[in-house]
Amino acid sequence: MEFFELAYARHSVRIYQPGLEISDRELRQIFDAVILSPSSFNIQHWKFVVVRDQERKTALRGLSFGQAQVEQSAAVVLVCGSLDAYADAARIYGAADLTTREKYLPMIEGSYAGQAALQREEAVRSGSLAAMSLMYAAKAAGWDSGPMIGFDAKKVGAMLHLDDNTVPVMMIVIGKALNDVQPERGYRRPIEEVVKLEFLDGDTLV
Ligand SMILES: Cc1cc2nc3c(=O)[nH]c(=O)nc-3n(C[C@H](O)[C@H](O)[C@H](O)COP(=O)(O)O)c2cc1C
Repeated sequence: MEFFELAYARHSVRIYQPGLEISDRELRQIFDAVILSPSSFNIQHWKFVVVRDQERKTALRGLSFGQAQVEQSAAVVLVCGSLDAYADAARIYGAADLTTREKYLPMIEGSYAGQAALQREEAVRSGSLAAMSLMYAAKAAGWDSGPMIGFDAKKVGAMLHLDDNTVPVMMIVIGKALNDVQPERGYRRPIEEVVKLEFLDGDTLV
């Protein structure tokens, strides 16, 4: 699917065909594209916990204010961000030349070490970019999706064994819309309001 077609076709789907399964092979195709997402210093702060077991999806629904899509989707993906992903920089830059390593490794350590707020921001920033890639990749592979933050992050984190260095970014449910019915597109703020030229109070596009 060509990108603009994909962008117009993606919706947050909340009513899914129940009982559908998504295979490892299908997920791998999707995640192979997702991990190409950009991240600061190429640190790749993201991690994904995929839940397909029906009983566990039902339990997750109970921790998501009863939202039915969690139970009816084929997979629930908790997109997470690692606070300490920067600690792997030497591995990430392992194949880089010495000049690059000597330039970037101290810069990365200096930027993140002891910087709790930045670590969190970056984990959420990278995780969010990956989440968007996940929704587009899923759509391109023939699956619908829905992003969600309406869940008890503490309880979901405990259920999925998140550790102290891993924060939940958002949940993405993946499935196929019931009867192929796509939701109506919600209101969008017009370009004039959201795109400004040169200054925040500048002109907009013609
Ligand atoms: C971070 C985030 C959290 C969201 N949380 C929920 C949610 O908990 N439940 C839900 O039904 N939709 C949720 N949504 C979906 C939004 O309502 C939806 O993206 C928005 O209405 C625009 O619709 P569209 O995605 O179909 O274009 C969330 C979206 C985002 C980006």
